Amino acid sequence: MMTDLTKNFARAEKAEEVVTYGSLDSSVQELLTAAFEVRQRAYAPYSGFKVGAAFRARVSGQIFTGCNVENAAFTPCSCAERTALAKAVSEGATEFSAGAVLAYEPDVFTTPCGVCRQFIREFATDDIQIYVAQASDARIAAKEEPFQSEDPVLCTSIFNLLPSSFRTYRK
Ligand code: THU
Repeated sequence: MMTDLTKNFARAEKAEEVVTYGSLDSSVQELLTAAFEVRQRAYAPYSGFKVGAAFRARVSGQIFTGCNVENAAFTPCSCAERTALAKAVSEGATEFSAGAVLAYEPDVFTTPCGVCRQFIREFATDDIQIYVAQASDARIAAKEEPFQSEDPVLCTSIFNLLPSSFRTYRK
């Protein structure tokens, strides 16, 4: 019989779904709000595309946030997700239960780029839930609440975003 060489592959247990903001736990709403707030500090003078991310540490429950930080040389740009995780790891948190990513493109969810998926995967011993929502700049301008109950939120996970992924060099 052939050995199953794929048995350790990352496979999500839960499929992706779109739910309303109002149906989410308050801990997830808090994570999305933290990503919304940090997005306002995005340093994106070249693309003008602001992104905010927040991750909840598994043990302490602490939220670590990050925005994208661009550079005139383009290559050294840090995405919001990597900014948040680098902050967390440097503060001693390396396990996460959930993450949130916020940007604004009309009519679509902005999901993490390939590099960020690999970066998140590095810290995923188990699957990490990832929540993606649209950030409304109009609501910021109008000083309204960042989210409304009926706002759609994509509930996915790092194993959904990056199945069969590379993660090795460790026991
Ligand atoms: N960006 C993120 O911060 N996260 C992603 O997952 C996708 C892209 C940023 C990088 C750059 O500053 C801007 O969005 C446009 O690509």
